[in-house]
Amino acid sequence: MERLPGFRDFYPEPLPSNDVWSADLRTYVFDTWRSVARSYGFSEYDGPPLEPTDLFTKKSGDEIVGQLYNFTDKGDRAVALRPEMTPTLARMAAAAERNYKKPFKWFSIPQLFRYERQQKGRLREHFQLNCDILGEESTAADAELIALLIDTLRALGLSSEDFVVRLSSRNAWQDFFEAHCKDPDRAYEFFQVIDKLEREDPEVSDTKLASLGFAPEEVREFIRAGRPTPELAGILEDLAARGLRDFVRVDYGVIRGLAYYSGPVFEAFDRKGEFRAIAGGGRYNQLISLISDGKVDLPALGFGMGDVVLTELLKSRGLLPEMRGDIDVFFLIEDEQLRHASLRQIQQLREDGYNVEFPLTPSKGNKQFKRAMELGADFTVRLEGHMAVVKNLRTRAEMRLAPEELTEHLVDAIVDNMDEDEL
Ligand code: HAM
Repeated sequence: MERLPGFRDFYPEPLPSNDVWSADLRTYVFDTWRSVARSYGFSEYDGPPLEPTDLFTKKSGDEIVGQLYNFTDKGDRAVALRPEMTPTLARMAAAAERNYKKPFKWFSIPQLFRYERQQKGRLREHFQLNCDILGEESTAADAELIALLIDTLRALGLSSEDFVVRLSSRNAWQDFFEAHCKDPDRAYEFFQVIDKLEREDPEVSDTKLASLGFAPEEVREFIRAGRPTPELAGILEDLAARGLRDFVRVDYGVIRGLAYYSGPVFEAFDRKGEFRAIAGGGRYNQLISLISDGKVDLPALGFGMGDVVLTELLKSRGLLPEMRGDIDVFFLIEDEQLRHASLRQIQQLREDGYNVEFPLTPSKGNKQFKRAMELGADFTVRLEGHMAVVKNLRTRAEMRLAPEELTEHLVDAIVDNMDEDEL
């Protein structure tokens, strides 16, 4: 039985083949996402992977609606797997915002589902770090969010030579639109053409622009000039004060495909232009009001960073860490007479917080040692009579101790190993 196209299997290392993904690498990416988001004061939330289809059809725009995994459930409800997190967040925020001091900063790592045409960097399922700030009008929040995006990528080893955040403004585009087109209902259609400008055949885009009453050259000139609005200038100043200015450039070639964005918007790309967007986001000040039928009005902004493009980029830049196992101790049981006494020690070590592996059934000593090495264990421990023998597999130093001294000895030995790593 094959897995569905566009879906992934995540295996533990070492990987059995090159068409599967590493569960250990995924953990590394998620851990980094979590720790940087927390360092910016974000709290974690989550929602259901299945939602009423309406939640997405009304607010996200045609493109994503065309990609919905939707069906009627056994209770005759129209439901869809979430293609993005923002509508769920807006629903949750509208229901509970009174319980939280404004602004509140939330993050989540949902798995999302989009029935997309498969291509490089696009699958039918992906994980996405979502970071959003709710209840703050000031552009200080936009800068804070962009700084978080930059620091998340830096924490994974990427530098300003590897990626750039292209900063744009829906407001600037809205003004441009209103100056040239008198039909306000066609704004989203116009934004969609701009969003596709870099990927679409120029002739097709020009025809669409002309049909909306725009001179293609004027549109291109607006992008080329890239004059920051006062709003964008404020964001750039804030980022400059943090020493992050080199990571951002004003670029009206970005407008974002989703319908709900209202103010500053941005996307992160690799500098060489080899990959699709690493992350994208912006302001969506009206979405919560739309979703709550006008009951709650809360300014909001956020971004989503997918794991697919990110992993491809890290791989191509040689930034994937070596996946070492996380076994601290491999407990050798060479004499079956000592199995029960060994189990007692294993239990104690685990209760003391160590990751411990041992042979479940009798096996030869050299086989056990080989296994310890394969697992990347830091120490082996074996009982010899009433004593425990600890071997540090990095330094190869061996020591005999009373079993009750084991935990204390390991604490020191682990610190010594860390020092050695730093040398
Ligand atoms: P989005 O631009 O649709 O935004 O997705 C954000 C990122 O998710 C993309 O830049 C890309 O890295 C990744 N991504 C999207 N679709 C796929 C796919 N089919 N396969 C692999 N990766 C993908 C949103 O979803 C917004 N809701 C983000 C947001 C949060 N805006 C405000 N808050």
